[in-house]
Amino acid sequence: MKAVLAYSGGLDTSVILKLMQEKLGVEVITVTVDVGQKDEFEKIEEKAYKFGAVKHYYIDAKEEFANEYVSKAIKANALYEKAYPLATALARPLIVEKLVEVAKKEGANIIAHGCTGKGNDQVRFNLGIKALMPEAEILQPVAEWNLTRDWEMEYAKKHGIPVSDKIYSIDENIWGRSIEGGVLEDPFAEPPEEVWEWTVSPAKAPDEPEYLTIEFENGVPVALNGEKMPLLELVLKVNEIAGKHGVGRIDHIEDRTVGIKSREVYEAPAAVTLIKAHYDLEKLTMTKWLLEFKEFVDSKWSWLVYNGLWYEPLRHALEGFIDEAEKVVNGEVKVKLWKGNAVVVGRHSDNALYDIKVATYEKFSTFDQKLAKGFIELFGMQSVLAYNVMHGAKTV
Ligand code: ARG
Ligand code: SIN
Repeated sequence: MKAVLAYSGGLDTSVILKLMQEKLGVEVITVTVDVGQKDEFEKIEEKAYKFGAVKHYYIDAKEEFANEYVSKAIKANALYEKAYPLATALARPLIVEKLVEVAKKEGANIIAHGCTGKGNDQVRFNLGIKALMPEAEILQPVAEWNLTRDWEMEYAKKHGIPVSDKIYSIDENIWGRSIEGGVLEDPFAEPPEEVWEWTVSPAKAPDEPEYLTIEFENGVPVALNGEKMPLLELVLKVNEIAGKHGVGRIDHIEDRTVGIKSREVYEAPAAVTLIKAHYDLEKLTMTKWLLEFKEFVDSKWSWLVYNGLWYEPLRHALEGFIDEAEKVVNGEVKVKLWKGNAVVVGRHSDNALYDIKVATYEKFSTFDQKLAKGFIELFGMQSVLAYNVMHGAKTV
């Protein structure tokens, strides 16, 4: 019998790799999906074979992740609970897709992953596998076999699996870095400087600000400082530049799908910068009614992605709306990066609904101010009437 295991090369999945052979007697095929995590993939492959994998797949999915997942998140201004740009959540369905592809190709009917029973990732993996390969058996050893860290360390030592003394649980991809555990479990404790890898401390960021001009087409970034480039490259560049200015640190109390409140720390310089710029351009180009409605659509989209409901038809339906709305989101946004902040300081679009002839206080204004009085009277008629009825004032 064959099984596919989502393999990161870390302690959990290395222990699981060994245990699966030992307990179930299955042939394990390991799969590592590269979504931009800074890992040594050759070493991971070496480890996989060392601990008994019969075959290992390294799949570079960075471009697909940028084009098919990150682009959607930008169009949806995707933030869960107004803070988390969804880096981890967004990559899970893509990883699942690759696991299923390998399972089908290799004729494996078990798909295993290293998620705990406490988090969101298990929801995302399990629902994704069930949608794409209902016949597969899902194996979740950490939860099903109740693996504790102490036991894993013992077992690892016995089997020559390297045990690191890392304190934090980290997940990384091009859209951000998620950090959990250790001292961060105390929600009152400030994250120590050591948790940050992609961002410098705003206090140590350059004194001189740096400007980025981001060009959007149909809501997706296509050029940086006048240079056209694929989204993957653009995201990596913005991560580097904004990170240098201390932009993108997020400290957040989060509601997990399973009901647990957790303290989550993220670094996402590109996500924070690009979503800000994108939303600003929406405000320039969309009507107020469209903007107002889209805010609800965006938060619902983010909610679905966070909660592992990637295959829910509502997501596709919302994306139909979003793509239609994004047709006007073309133009340029100028962002100033400085000491931990990304601030939009300029924007331009051929689709702008901003009309200086209407907005200006100068004398070339074409707006007829005499119309305002009647408009205001009708606009507030019911509210004023209701107030007066409630407070007994005479209305006639
Ligand atoms: N709370 C975040 C999420 O649910 C981050 C999860 C990080 N995962 C990890 N294995 N460290 O998306
Ligand atoms: C895990 O369970 O593997 C990490 C935490 C999460 O899924 O949120």
